[in-house]
Amino acid sequence: MPSINQVRPLAFSGRHVRAEIATDVKGLPLPGRTIVVNLDTTPAFLANEPRTPIPALSSTIAVGATLEQAAAVVLLRADDDRSAAGIIDEPGWQHFSDIAGETVFPRSTSLFRSPQAGAGVARLDPAALLGAAQPAGRERTFAIRLMLWFSAAGTDCGIHNRHDFIETHAQILGYGRMQKFTEPDTVSLYEDILMSPGYATPVPFCATGPDDTFVYPWHQYRADTDCVWLAVEYHLTD
Ligand SMILES: [Fe+2]
Repeated sequence: MPSINQVRPLAFSGRHVRAEIATDVKGLPLPGRTIVVNLDTTPAFLANEPRTPIPALSSTIAVGATLEQAAAVVLLRADDDRSAAGIIDEPGWQHFSDIAGETVFPRSTSLFRSPQAGAGVARLDPAALLGAAQPAGRERTFAIRLMLWFSAAGTDCGIHNRHDFIETHAQILGYGRMQKFTEPDTVSLYEDILMSPGYATPVPFCATGPDDTFVYPWHQYRADTDCVWLAVEYHLTD
């Protein structure tokens, strides 16, 4: 039996956003205002009655509440007194062009990434998670990887449609959007999901494809104000 309420800081935890992962939670007090992001496919619950779920991959803001039950959650506490833009001066942050390469990602686009953090593994049937009409009924093992992103107000962060993992996003500071497009052009927008602090996109944008691939629409993050958000990636390992 794993011991309950294992809480550890994540590699990108810092002055602007304190970030921890908590696993095998049973009755964990959450002081102050805490964004809770459920990493697991089972629901999490606050202790308050009536009990309502924090569903798989979704989030809430707990205010002086107790987390009664959760398999694995990220706990985020933002310092609202600090300007969000200062986060990129914390250790390990890089402009995305320094990660992806300047030929892939333009230096003129304000997009910065924190160090990444491993967050254990999840066993799940990707087809069932992604809402396929006929899920395979076969659980697979995914390594969970977490990171923060920053983008400045008014930035289109770049339309893309390729990932070899399942991703979701949770807003921490500022206001932005996750957007879907029919073509790699902002005029072809067909879905606009507004992101405010504490909101996560609980339904990944992808479907399962052939040979363990994931099929994404053209999509991007757009920052309406200076924004910090959490990306959650599920990487297939078996
Ligand atoms: Fe993406």
